[in-house]
Amino acid sequence: MTSPLTEHILYSENQLHIESCSIESIATKTNTPFYCYSKAQILTNIQRCKTAFNPHGIDIHYAMKANSNISILKLIAEQGLGVDLVSSGELLRAQAAGIPEKSMIFSGVGKTSTELTLAIAAGVGQFNVESVEELELLATLATPHTGAICAALRVNPDVAVDTHKNITTGRKGNKFGIPIEQALSLYQRYADHPWIKLSGLAMHIGSQIQSAAPYCQAIDKLMALVEKLEEEDFSIDSLDLGGGFGVDYGEGASLDLASVAQEIAHSTAGFKGRIIIEPGRSLLASAGVLVSRITYIKEAQPNPFLILDAAMNDLMRPALYQASHPIVPTNTDNDSCMRHYDVVGPICESTDTFARNYPLSESLKAGGLVAFLCTGAYGSVMSSTYNSRSILPELLVSGTETQIIRKEITQVQLIKYEQ
Ligand code: LLP
Repeated sequence: MTSPLTEHILYSENQLHIESCSIESIATKTNTPFYCYSKAQILTNIQRCKTAFNPHGIDIHYAMKANSNISILKLIAEQGLGVDLVSSGELLRAQAAGIPEKSMIFSGVGKTSTELTLAIAAGVGQFNVESVEELELLATLATPHTGAICAALRVNPDVAVDTHKNITTGRKGNKFGIPIEQALSLYQRYADHPWIKLSGLAMHIGSQIQSAAPYCQAIDKLMALVEKLEEEDFSIDSLDLGGGFGVDYGEGASLDLASVAQEIAHSTAGFKGRIIIEPGRSLLASAGVLVSRITYIKEAQPNPFLILDAAMNDLMRPALYQASHPIVPTNTDNDSCMRHYDVVGPICESTDTFARNYPLSESLKAGGLVAFLCTGAYGSVMSSTYNSRSILPELLVSGTETQIIRKEITQVQLIKYEQ
């Protein structure tokens, strides 16, 4: 495994730094474990995405489920990106960060009546509808009082995607979207509804995708549907192609945004409306690390256990998707000889294993620090309080400045909610 260090998360004089701050110096002021992000890296990732897609006139809506910290959403807002949100909680966060409601897209397979009502009242710009049943509900909520509601149908294009089975979303049998064959009849059924403006199509075929091919296959199906709808005099104003662009978690592969942008532009050539993408992971993953302290090095066969103070509740991806995140020491001063460790957390489950047979320095000691790289997306947001553990603090580094952007939610605070 290689280490996907980045422009702004890298070693200087054997010390792992986020921009100009060494992790060791940050850890003298903050209890471990903690998440830490680089502002410059987030901005670099956003710029890279803009450079790839904007020349083709493609709009970027950040899929905020990847990391919905309000300080990070403020950066998204400052960069002029919209958001893709999936719950009323995310709506609240996006509003708190000052993202204009018109630039919000509400996705999700199970939006409740309460959530839809809130989002309509807030003036959310687009609703990506995922079922006949949801469209029926939306139609009852759309009244003269609410004014016209802009909706797109999320279709399930049934394409295979080479990614972990738990994060494919565009295959038959996945709960997402409506079968492409149903789209025309839904357009016909709602053509005369005075307050539902059905004029878009959407898709999201999966996540951590490493090739442009499945996008092209799915877009071909979408474009055939556009043609069919237009023949029936429906005008399609927007195509939302979802997110899913894969990043390098240390295997050396990632999806090149410039080339996927070109392929998408090529596949959608001739479409006159607006094209939207919803990247999440590719904007945030590489900009964050999870910092953890070694509690014990427990000698065992075949490998010693590196027992950390971070656990699966803090970083779910290895337990849920067998994902591997590069684990690196924060200080490489004595890193000459390597040893293989099984890297685990303290939770009472064998799934609380981050890596097996993992090469790290034999000079590691209890009390030392390690960092999980590439954990800026789907890290902190997926954490739980299992084993009555706290919710970790999040820090944002900019140059020499370190700011706490979410305080730890402590064990004492958590038990206050209970009788
Ligand atoms: N749009 C929609 C409708 C989505 O459901 C998702 C992600 C995205 C956009 C953004 O996809 P991205 O660009 O981040 O791949 N927890 C999993 C990932 C689940 C993704 C769910 N949907 C993980 O840690 O790998």
